[in-house]
Amino acid sequence: MGKDRILELRDKLDFQRLPGHVAIIMDGNGRWARDRSLPRSAGHQEGMRRVVDIVEAANAIGIKYLSLYAFSTENWKRPKKEIDILMNILILYIKNELGKIHKNNIKIRVMGDIGPLPRLPRVEVKKAIEKTRANSGMVLNIGLNYGGRNEIVRGVKDIVRDVKLGKVDEDDIDVDLIARYLYTGDMPDPDLLIRPSGEIRVSNFMLYQIAYTEFWFSNIYWPDFTEEYLYAAIIDYQNRDRRFGGL
Ligand code: FPP
Repeated sequence: MGKDRILELRDKLDFQRLPGHVAIIMDGNGRWARDRSLPRSAGHQEGMRRVVDIVEAANAIGIKYLSLYAFSTENWKRPKKEIDILMNILILYIKNELGKIHKNNIKIRVMGDIGPLPRLPRVEVKKAIEKTRANSGMVLNIGLNYGGRNEIVRGVKDIVRDVKLGKVDEDDIDVDLIARYLYTGDMPDPDLLIRPSGEIRVSNFMLYQIAYTEFWFSNIYWPDFTEEYLYAAIIDYQNRDRRFGGL
């Protein structure tokens, strides 16, 4: 798609009604590479380029929170070689982009337990969080060793601990309190969840937070997810009638 057509699409956005929080399950890197007889690593590399583009585009149009699923608790089942590739891409992304991210006032957050990550990516991720901690622009929330069920288990354990410590009254446990004990405790729920690659499932992503989220699925693979798809998804979202269970 030409640049003019992309800008035309962007102009169709209603900037008064942007989704505050967009979440994306980035999927299809492997199939994108397979279709081109390339190694899977090439798909992940191209996927990283789309992360660069989409972070920039989301920030430019004024999205406040962008959550990206980069590595799931289930991804450890992949061959070590592929895990290493993904970790190296994460390191590369931070090394290449942190300066620009910081300059753009973007705040990096991570959801998931980065403890089990190899040392190098862990150090880079911590550096990125530290450097951007005081930024007040878009929050880039990256799911790393993240699983929605684990997140809920962890939250429940923390609540039990705080009840025992007398910090939380059992009677005060409600929907909002549980939400505050999740990694996203201080963030609004996603308004829009995007999943490319033709899979129509949630795959353990932000299970508690997506109760009223609008979903947008597409057959294209993540490495093909250039900015116009983000605009198309948002335009679709803006044409929906969100009732949150009401009339
Ligand atoms: C799914 O494709 C994608 C992933 C498991 C990882 C997503 C990672 C990136 C886009 C790289 C960089 C991320 C950051 C935040 C810098 P798949 O391998 O499951 O594809 P397939 O289902 O076609 O095999």
